[in-house]
Amino acid sequence: MIRDLRGYIDYLSRSGSLGIINNGVSPELEISAITDKENRERRSESRSLLFENVDGYDMPVMTNLMGSVSVLKKLFSGFGVSDFLSSIYYSKGVSMANGARILLDSKPKVVRSGFSGYKKLGSLDELPILKTWPNDAGRYITLPLVVTNSPSDGTTNVGIYRMQVFDGETTGMHWQSQKGGAIHALEAEETGSQLSVSIAIGTDPFNILSAVAPLPHGINEFAFAGIARKSKTALLGCGDYPYVPANSEIIINGYVDPVERRDEGPYGDHTGYYSIKEPTYVFHIKAIYAKKDPIYAASVVGFPWSEDSTAGQFLMEYLKPMLRFVNQNIADIYLPPEGAFTNMCFIKVRKRFPGDVKKAMFSVLGTGQLSLTKIIIAFDEDIDIRNLSHVVWAISTRVDPDRDIQIIKGTATDTLDHASNSPARGSKMLIDATMKSKEDGYLREWPDILVPDKDIAKEIDRKWSQIN
Ligand SMILES: Cc1cc2nc3c(=O)[nH]c(=O)nc-3n(C[C@H](O)[C@H](O)[C@H](O)COP(=O)(O)O)c2cc1C
Repeated sequence: MIRDLRGYIDYLSRSGSLGIINNGVSPELEISAITDKENRERRSESRSLLFENVDGYDMPVMTNLMGSVSVLKKLFSGFGVSDFLSSIYYSKGVSMANGARILLDSKPKVVRSGFSGYKKLGSLDELPILKTWPNDAGRYITLPLVVTNSPSDGTTNVGIYRMQVFDGETTGMHWQSQKGGAIHALEAEETGSQLSVSIAIGTDPFNILSAVAPLPHGINEFAFAGIARKSKTALLGCGDYPYVPANSEIIINGYVDPVERRDEGPYGDHTGYYSIKEPTYVFHIKAIYAKKDPIYAASVVGFPWSEDSTAGQFLMEYLKPMLRFVNQNIADIYLPPEGAFTNMCFIKVRKRFPGDVKKAMFSVLGTGQLSLTKIIIAFDEDIDIRNLSHVVWAISTRVDPDRDIQIIKGTATDTLDHASNSPARGSKMLIDATMKSKEDGYLREWPDILVPDKDIAKEIDRKWSQIN
């Protein structure tokens, strides 16, 4: 049972997935450079890194909490969210015990109120906040769980949004359009009120992964974490501010004025570029609390591969059953890390009825955060969409650009896509790289794919060492 970040550190250490760095390191560019090198070398099996001696601070820094796919798989194994969804989808039935457990675990529980056990900090300057890339506009809090409650219906949202430090009491709040925090800010603007915000830094991996997960808006991430953890999320009451995980290392309370904006960036992001300096929301800090001897948690992103690539690859597989609810024709989906999540998406389509390929592509464009995808390419079921040779072969041999490529203008795009003319508005490209038939307007006989004669191939395999 992993109770908090410290329990997770023990777990990582026991599973050989923790690197401990005792050398003195600077939070300015050094911690990020070491983390980036770890990620480039070990990719989806990177270690989490604990920096014990951070220049100028007596607080250790932990990076790469989600660096290893095999660790994440192990943590989230057993009957959890994904199995629950699969069971319903395939009508396999859920046992009474599993069903009851899921219901119980999904209800977060307030275990304490107030900040006993925490000390109050004077300002953000007391935290070893990182500067990641040389031309970043400053230091950024990069792994905050940003908790808000909907001003309209009270539902809770938790997301991870970067926060540029403007000064000891003010930061940026980079919730992009379409995200849960931005929706709550819009609701606050409609009611003419400020939006209370709580930030939790350093908690257990279930809370963190759930905050990253692209869940449908309205699903409480703490409930999702409880199901995945197989025990309720324990919350700490923060008075008028949204409640945070009771195991948080650091808690910050404050507010966002929904009409206030300030320039934010540049910031070295997961696209491999600096994101452009643009106006964003402003977070005003009212109080900062830290456990005794807290550990500060941060994430480092950059040119793929980085930690968010690993988290993304894991979550895509874990949440695939959810997508099947929306469209059964999507047999598989893959977002290549080089596509920075929202810039490129491959889907494998199960074609059964006329128009199924477009239906599948449009459903991606209508589904939560997937709707931000810029380029969607649809493949037949014979293509391995994780194998770039297959992908390039299919695009090259199954696409007639005039017939198979569609451009849709004036759509919502990822705020981080600097290629569009203006922020969060751009276009989409849909590529149908499936084989064509008369229904697609194809006037010829689609050719057969080369397949060796089975018996002869077997015989040659047998004789290969003599022939070769
Ligand atoms: C390290 C890291 C940094 C992130 N930074 C941002 C960010 O600055 N802005 C943003 O909108 N999403 C960011 N995300 C992605 C969101 O956390 C993710 O889309 C999440 O599902 C949002 O959930 P929500 O729609 O419930 O708010 C980041 C993710 C990670 C892993």
